[in-house]
Amino acid sequence: MIKFLTACAHVEEMAAQIYRTMRQKAVAENQADLDKLWGEMAADEEAHAQQLRFAARLSRERVFDLVEPSQAAHPAALLKRTELMLDYVRSKKLSELEMLHIADELERDFQKIHTSYTLQFQDPSMKKTFEALAKADDQHVASLQEVIRRFPKRLATK
Ligand SMILES: [Fe+2]
Repeated sequence: MIKFLTACAHVEEMAAQIYRTMRQKAVAENQADLDKLWGEMAADEEAHAQQLRFAARLSRERVFDLVEPSQAAHPAALLKRTELMLDYVRSKKLSELEMLHIADELERDFQKIHTSYTLQFQDPSMKKTFEALAKADDQHVASLQEVIRRFPKRLATK
């Protein structure tokens, strides 16, 4: 259980690093709105990681009934994926729109996986934790979509 939650926390930290990398690119190119978006998203992911680490500490004293997630939805698989994504974002010269789409896809996957975790716990506090994470993923998708929607206009007014 501790391993599960710690891996989940690690995934959130990876996501924070991905968004911080994207933010550096936005800062370098003087994109104030993207600087703000990535900064907020990175801070949210860091907060999620802290919540999960806290839950992991609490779980030492309690026994949870977790159904093992499927291989693809396992936090270890998700961690591998986010690590590869961080490498990719660091090494490639991506356009702003490409980065927005990468983040959008990542958050949609997180949302699905966090929602699937809520069903795997019987414990109400654990269910709540993952419900809140899934909701935060939804909010990130909404923010990204909003920026993507405005994107052509934003370029035109540059
Ligand atoms: Fe998150």
